[in-house]
Amino acid sequence: MDPVHLLIDQATADDAERLAELAAVTFPLACPASSRPEDIKHHITTELSPARFRLYLADPGKKLLCLRDGDRLIAYSMIIEGDPTDAGVLASLSTFPTMELSKFYVHPDHHGRGQAALLMQATLETAAGKRAAAVWLGTNDENHRAVRFYEKHGFIKVGVKTFRLGAGVENDFILELTLPERS
Ligand SMILES: CC(C)(COP(=O)(O)OP(=O)(O)OC[C@H]1O[C@@H](n2cnc3c(N)ncnc32)[C@H](O)[C@@H]1OP(=O)(O)O)[C@@H](O)C(=O)NCCC(=O)NCCS
Repeated sequence: MDPVHLLIDQATADDAERLAELAAVTFPLACPASSRPEDIKHHITTELSPARFRLYLADPGKKLLCLRDGDRLIAYSMIIEGDPTDAGVLASLSTFPTMELSKFYVHPDHHGRGQAALLMQATLETAAGKRAAAVWLGTNDENHRAVRFYEKHGFIKVGVKTFRLGAGVENDFILELTLPERS
């Protein structure tokens, strides 16, 4: 694909359906092979529905970025302002104020093409623009591709946490990136 057609912008309420469609395709890719399909389906239905995305989009503390090729949504990210409330996560982090990179998903047709890097750059710039000194995230400890991708972008493993997936519980690494100081 010709990268000149790519555009990154902030998602709007009009994107809720498209975001849910992309999330339904990409969320299962982040889950380990051992996850139960019904737990993945439950998560998609409850946490990644169009209605849920409309709530995320209406929340001033959440910022969703879209990477588009024309009308087509090919990736999205969501950052959440504010330090984490989970005591275990809080204890793992070193730099504050921080933001959570809560969602970072690229359509599989676009993996390995440098497009995730474009969205990461824009997402980190958005976090820095919100005066965050760091960004943290949780990713499944078996999601080797994502861990490699995040480490390439400067994130460091700083801890572990659990993630409720439907009726199951998965294990996540916590990764943290300290943003460069702004002048
Ligand atoms: C995670 C994601 C955003 C990364 O985007 P991408 O375009 O695939 O990333 P890149 O190709 O730039 O980097 C992936 C790296 O992992 C490597 N990799 C691929 N498969 C791997 C595997 N099974 N084990 C270890 N490394 C792997 C790639 O070789 C590459 O490293 P390199 O550049 O040193 O060769 C994208 O794969 C994605 O959306 N995955 C599905 C959803 C997901 O898991 N999101 C994260 C949720 S926290």
